Amino acid sequence: MVGSNVGPGKSLPANGTIELRFDHLLLPISVARQSAIIRQANGEIAAAPVVQYDPAGKTVTLSASDGRPWLESGQYYVLDFITYRPDAGPGGFRTLLGATMDPHAASKLGFFATDSVTINAPHISFCRDIEPILTTKCGRCHGGQSPAMALQLDSTNGIRATAIRQLARGSNAGASSTPRAASFGTDMAIIEPHAPGSSWLMYKVLLASPSSELTVPTSATCGGDVFDALVLYANGIPTPLDDRERTVLGMFVEGAPMPYPVAQIVDATHEAPLTQDELLRMSEWIRDGASLE
Ligand code: HEC
Repeated sequence: MVGSNVGPGKSLPANGTIELRFDHLLLPISVARQSAIIRQANGEIAAAPVVQYDPAGKTVTLSASDGRPWLESGQYYVLDFITYRPDAGPGGFRTLLGATMDPHAASKLGFFATDSVTINAPHISFCRDIEPILTTKCGRCHGGQSPAMALQLDSTNGIRATAIRQLARGSNAGASSTPRAASFGTDMAIIEPHAPGSSWLMYKVLLASPSSELTVPTSATCGGDVFDALVLYANGIPTPLDDRERTVLGMFVEGAPMPYPVAQIVDATHEAPLTQDELLRMSEWIRDGASLE
């Protein structure tokens, strides 16, 4: 783990979200509720948070399912963070590279809860933030009469019918079924709302090297209107995957990176790999529930 928003001197609003940032991709199957336990000062287990994993931001978040306060203001809590140890059973967070996490790194983080605050998280809009990516970078192959892998990404009906909660063919079911894919994550959907870390699409786009790493747009259009672009990760964009990680990811996620590599990319946006900003937006949209409104 490389950073967190709780710990000594870092308190959390009672309705806040705990964010744990990692420097490596985690094995999706290892990101489980049992790997992060929150205890009260007396050792009793406190609220059971919703655990979400964003593979583009390499971030695990713990939050209440409904955004309401889940901790008690003024109370002290300890986050017990369990990492995988070969000698301690299969549980715990584990990196994709198979490296055991630093045993000396803090596995417990104590923090105080403060009063709840109004949360103004940036809200992803499908039309403004996501649709343009799918149309320009995926639509030619995943659209029309016979979309690749029967996956239709160029219309909301198509996404609803062929991607949302639809089992990915390349997941551990079907022809490319291998024990490795099964240990990566079982029966992954193409898009699993609220769970980018369990969405096959995320891993297919993460396989491609981001085209230009930090391109952040300043405006976006939606229904003909121009809007300010969404600014995610105001404190800095997380580091993209490195080549070694991408290679290991490719052992789990078979087939080509998406967009499918074409011999010649027409221009910087057309069918070029997603930029780091687009990857983060895609992940955030899925985490938000992958709404098509
Ligand atoms: C040039 C054509 C082309 C483009 C552009 C393209 N794809 Fe694909 N896609 C394919 C082909 C062919 C396959 C099947 C082979 C494979 O999985 O590698 C596929 C497979 C997939 C799968 C796996 C489906 C499954 O059931 O396992 C996903 C997810 C996917 N594409 C997402 C995307 C996304 C997201 C984009 C845009 C960012 C995109 N693709 C752009 C051709 C394309």
